Amino acid sequence: MSDTVGYLVTVREAIAVASRKLEVAGCDTPRVDAELLLAHVLASTRSELRADGRRQLSPSELADFERMVERREAREPLAYVLGEWGFRRLVLKTDARALVPRPETEVVVERCLTLLAGRDEPRILDVGTGSGAIALALAQEKSDAHVTGLDASSDALALAKENVERTGIRIELLQRDLFSGLPDGPWDVVVSNPPYVRPDEIDALPPEVGMWEPRLAVVGEGATATVARGALQVLRSQGVLVLEVADGEAARVAGLLRELGYGEVRITRDLAGRDRVVEGVRA
Ligand SMILES: C[S@@+](CC[C@H](N)C(=O)[O-])C[C@H]1O[C@@H](n2cnc3c(N)ncnc32)[C@H](O)[C@@H]1O
Repeated sequence: MSDTVGYLVTVREAIAVASRKLEVAGCDTPRVDAELLLAHVLASTRSELRADGRRQLSPSELADFERMVERREAREPLAYVLGEWGFRRLVLKTDARALVPRPETEVVVERCLTLLAGRDEPRILDVGTGSGAIALALAQEKSDAHVTGLDASSDALALAKENVERTGIRIELLQRDLFSGLPDGPWDVVVSNPPYVRPDEIDALPPEVGMWEPRLAVVGEGATATVARGALQVLRSQGVLVLEVADGEAARVAGLLRELGYGEVRITRDLAGRDRVVEGVRA
């Protein structure tokens, strides 16, 4: 913010300068990002900041804000810079060890909860749990469920464990490669947001994803089909598979589930109206 030093910087000025920098850096929502970063530094909210635009920042507040803006200018995901991110009713710790939980994944949780209505003490397996977002949200919102999250990444599992401690929600965590088979059930629900970006697509991704999120979380060939096949071995009869899929892939994945013998195959749209969730019931 060197173009504003020389006198004490107000909230409004700091946001204006940071917004310009983030816009130049190519961020999609520069002003919102700047407001959220400053709100974080001041332990405030965006609306409080707007009402308090003439407040002057202390030198240490300004320095903290500038450090965060610099990280965001380098296109580090906002959730990593903030260190936490909302998912359903939770605020989870987020950093470069795992994928940032996405709004479309909240729809995956919603479908699981709908399908679990009336099932007592269901056993749920979250394949590729990452930060633990799906597993923790399901354990919170279906409080009699027994939830297990597995991941191949020890970094992701370490973050998921920190989120277990942070939220006080009990889930089991397992380190396992999904390609070596899913743990024995029987499970009432197998849910997964597997890596589904093809290696040749990585260069077209925004820097926040391609440069910062773990490659193992983003790029994966064959993971969706492997989870779909593996789930048939470990789901109980009438157990449900719920998958998040890439934009444009829902019809193909629904076809695969039918071919594998799943019934009641259904596609659900995300909040942006895109077909992103596919489910099927094991006979
Ligand atoms: C798209 S991320 C989903 C993370 C989290 N479930 C979410 O929705 O935010 C995919 C996750 O699958 C994990 N993963 C990738 N390949 C795997 C494998 N072969 N076996 C187990 N987990 C794997 C990654 O480490 C990552 O945490």
